[in-house]
Amino acid sequence: MRRGCGCDRGCDCPRPCPHHTSLSRVQQQKLSLLGLAVHVRRQTPHPGGPVTAQQHTHTHQPGHQHDHSHSQSHDHTHSHSHSHEDIDWEAMADHLEREAEIGLPFLDEAAAWLRGLLRDSVAVTRVLDVGSGPGVATSQLALAFPEAEAVAVDGAPKLLERARARADALGVGDRVTTRKAELPDDLGSLGEADLVWTGHVVHHLGDQQEALREMGRLLRPGGVLAVVESGLNARFLPRDIGMGRPGLLARVEATREDWFVRMRTALPGHKATVEHWPGLLAAAGLTPSGTRSFLTDIPAPVDAPVRAHLHAQLTRMRDVLTDELAADDLTVLDRLLDDDSPEGILNRPDAFYLTATTVHTARRTA
Ligand SMILES: C[S@@+](CC[C@H](N)C(=O)[O-])C[C@H]1O[C@@H](n2cnc3c(N)ncnc32)[C@H](O)[C@@H]1O
Repeated sequence: MRRGCGCDRGCDCPRPCPHHTSLSRVQQQKLSLLGLAVHVRRQTPHPGGPVTAQQHTHTHQPGHQHDHSHSQSHDHTHSHSHSHEDIDWEAMADHLEREAEIGLPFLDEAAAWLRGLLRDSVAVTRVLDVGSGPGVATSQLALAFPEAEAVAVDGAPKLLERARARADALGVGDRVTTRKAELPDDLGSLGEADLVWTGHVVHHLGDQQEALREMGRLLRPGGVLAVVESGLNARFLPRDIGMGRPGLLARVEATREDWFVRMRTALPGHKATVEHWPGLLAAAGLTPSGTRSFLTDIPAPVDAPVRAHLHAQLTRMRDVLTDELAADDLTVLDRLLDDDSPEGILNRPDAFYLTATTVHTARRTA
């Protein structure tokens, strides 16, 4: 197809503790055997302990209301053309899966939050992951809601195959199904659910307001729609990296904002939308039930899977923004993409990974 520390054990630890393990060792081994990319996180032992290259600090800022404009923490700029139709999601399978795996602690934290939101209103027996991609969230939601069937919904069959394999490897295959669907046209046929999760998908649909309305209609009374949008783009290099003009990533980000506008404008049925997500959810007939942002904070030096992700991200930036970036910035990007160089992103000691992912929720009350 071509197209466009959440510990659920009540721990108040301000820094990661041994509870914060997204996948068990057995689950990780099963995924490895399947050849699926696995980012094995060893958590910081406890406050005060030293931070090493393999450790992953993951904190969050509960209760904060964020309404950033259209900055996207997922980078989908990967084609020179600016048309939505040019996004080859299946070609991005490795990237999507690795990026979602880096965010596994976020997914678990968000799922724990949603469990709390839903606990008193509805027994969760069906979860839809709309635009699931390789189904990393689908499986985590199936793990978080053990009484529920979880459906990975996507237009890309190869990504749904990954979602299926992942669910089997994680031992939730009996409760995870996949459904090929074109959005927004097929939304009405997905069947009702107690939780609809949609991660980094709505901004790829021309009429975001109508898509939210359709998703809201799928909810049973008391059910919750969780929309992952906005947040903060990942930062992964210092302002001054010892080559070129300081501030490379800020300039790249500004250029990407323009790309994002062009990408959206080219979508079928595009409608300009003020990205006030709680407002959009209210206009969709739902009752906003909170917005939270989750920090993924992996200090330098990062491990190999994170470096691979950053390499892929820089490669896409280089490809897509060739016409927009200044020549000296393109030269620096080339140096960062030199795999054999100590300056390259695969080798340099100062690479880190810091991003915030925002989840907007709303409930169907009637
Ligand atoms: C950025 S990825 C997000 C994947 C996953 N939700 C995550 O957060 O990692 C967007 C996903 O939406 C799917 N998608 C985008 N537009 C679609 C459409 N119009 N119909 C069906 N699927 C679509 C793509 O195939 C892709 O898997």
